Amino acid sequence: MDDTGFQRGNALLNRHLTDDRRPDTFSLLGREWDLLDGVFSPVYTPVTALFSTWLPYPPGGTFLEIGSGAGVTAVVAAQSGCRAVTALDISMAAVENTRLNVARHGVEDRVRVLRSDLFSELEPGEEFDLIYWNSNFAEAPADFANETDLHHAFFDPSYRAHSEFVAQAPRYLSPGGRLMLGFSNIGNTALLTELCADVGLELCTYRSERRQVDQRTTVEFQLLELRARHSSSS
Ligand SMILES: C[S@@+](CC[C@H](N)C(=O)[O-])C[C@H]1O[C@@H](n2cnc3c(N)ncnc32)[C@H](O)[C@@H]1O
Repeated sequence: MDDTGFQRGNALLNRHLTDDRRPDTFSLLGREWDLLDGVFSPVYTPVTALFSTWLPYPPGGTFLEIGSGAGVTAVVAAQSGCRAVTALDISMAAVENTRLNVARHGVEDRVRVLRSDLFSELEPGEEFDLIYWNSNFAEAPADFANETDLHHAFFDPSYRAHSEFVAQAPRYLSPGGRLMLGFSNIGNTALLTELCADVGLELCTYRSERRQVDQRTTVEFQLLELRARHSSSS
């Protein structure tokens, strides 16, 4: 296992745990947001702002976000014309944080927020026009345990959650629906490609951008589309 992603995940986790000036509100995308303790902060990396801006929100359609964190993307989706947004997170603090920001921005009528391990709390037969996860793409060793809810924001031991995500997500897509993953070049692209191939999906880069994230590290942030192999849709 190349541990670049694991090291970067640890650096980001430590920043979350040791920043004694961590604010309880922040500005992003021209809006103000609440930020609770123990929730992935969209201010330490450009990832939330990039993906929230790039996503092709379906006008009048339905959007499912796995891992909504502080709720920025879910709110932007609702404000960008989605009819119904479902925001799920395994972390109760993230669920509360998303609810706070949904209320702050007055979009409660079209955003529902649930605590859920991936798709576990969805009803059978639910379908969405766009499914998206800004994932915990730092691969961690198989014996690594996500000790706290916050660990889930960064680490996926052996990509077990990614494996479940690619296997289950297609059954929640509406006809013509799109499946997207927020990822980066410090994730394990080879393993993700293999997991996708196992379930008949291929990875396409929808949009990407390189950003310097600290003095020594440049990361290419990638919004990936997972398509059925041989699909001709664009
Ligand atoms: C990188 S953070 C992204 C948070 C937010 N979407 C953003 O862009 O700021 C990944 C999120 O996925 C959530 N997550 C990790 N594993 C999950 C799972 N199995 N089910 C649901 N959410 C999960 C984490 O709790 C975290 O909030």
